[in-house]
Amino acid sequence: MPGESLLTIEDYGRLCRQTLPRPLFDVIFGTEDAAEFETLRNNLEGFKKLVLRPRVLTGSARPALAVSVLEEQVALPVLIAPSGSNQRFDPEGERAVARAAGQMGTIMTVSTASNYSLEEIAAAATGPVWFQLYFFKDRELNSILIHRAETAGYKAIVVTVDVVTGSSKERHGRHDLTFAGIHYQRYNVDPSRIMRNFVDLQRPGVPTLETFQSCLESVLGWSDIDWLRRTTSLPLIVKGIQTAEDAALCVEHGADAVIVSNHGGHALNGARASIEALPEVVDAVGDKIEVYVDGGFRKGTDVLKALALGARAVLVGRPVLWGLTLGGQNGVQAVLELLRNELLVAGGQSGVMDVRTVDRNLLATAGHFAFAQAHAPEPLLA
Ligand SMILES: Cc1cc2nc3c(=O)[nH]c(=O)nc-3n(C[C@H](O)[C@H](O)[C@H](O)COP(=O)(O)O)c2cc1C
Repeated sequence: MPGESLLTIEDYGRLCRQTLPRPLFDVIFGTEDAAEFETLRNNLEGFKKLVLRPRVLTGSARPALAVSVLEEQVALPVLIAPSGSNQRFDPEGERAVARAAGQMGTIMTVSTASNYSLEEIAAAATGPVWFQLYFFKDRELNSILIHRAETAGYKAIVVTVDVVTGSSKERHGRHDLTFAGIHYQRYNVDPSRIMRNFVDLQRPGVPTLETFQSCLESVLGWSDIDWLRRTTSLPLIVKGIQTAEDAALCVEHGADAVIVSNHGGHALNGARASIEALPEVVDAVGDKIEVYVDGGFRKGTDVLKALALGARAVLVGRPVLWGLTLGGQNGVQAVLELLRNELLVAGGQSGVMDVRTVDRNLLATAGHFAFAQAHAPEPLLA
């Protein structure tokens, strides 16, 4: 990795775009100026609507960054979001990501659509791992995957609920999903590793690359969350919540945590930024369950803003894959180190002693001049 030119997460994105075949990069990660990636753009721009109100003379230079997530201690409040087919970016794929997560003292979320089996990844991991489940029509298949995750030592089940009808046709329509004769999911992937979690299952109708989408339950409802709650004794995390109403229902239906997420802009185009959806979700659940958030986190200040709004931790997707492409396990670690160092600086310069204690007094809405109030102008993000 050409170290000195990789000073920001955006630098990783730019170099990754030059490294991967362009059609592959554009369909997987999107470009900020593309019409079909309006939600991605919203995610990135959402952070600019909030500005920091730093305190000084607090005696803090290096804030404590450790937090607990579902009673697991992590060294920094930045976790790894699930992403499919990681061998596209490095031969070691998800195993490299799992090792990097362990090295950095954080948690990796393993996708249903991984190129290494969930057991292989758990065996490579040196820290806690969560299993992300796409919910299949075939309930027995869901049970099998959950049982395998439990047996392999996963610490939580993350069910993704925001892509039930598939992703935008516009996105796929605009991009040629094959380039140089290769499907974008097959690029650099050992053929035996495509949909690796399913290849050894002796079961009719198990998902393949071609049938994956049609195997997913397209009419997910709260009774499915109830079913999951009954089916696993592991903590249950619902990924893809964007409103107070749904967050409150997650509490009612027994979820242990939610991830505020719009799938990194890969699901509904025209959705608001995750960071803008976060406060109402936090307010809706109070201290009943934990709230995490993903979508567009590229800087230490982005992370600090989410924590100040009430998220316990954030997850990162694209930055991890850019690091993986450019440097394998070391690249992923470098990306996480960069975010950690930026968070240390941002917290230190804001007078934060411990990230667990930040609150909304650290924030103001950009463009809002408050003369009368001594504290943060209210309401935030109205
Ligand atoms: C290439 C790619 C693959 C993804 N695959 C999955 C997946 O298999 N399961 C899932 O729940 N989310 C998936 N996501 C969404 C991420 O978990 C996460 O919500 C999103 O990437 C966060 O935004 P960020 O990339 O801006 O950090 C994927 C995202 C990307 C970019």
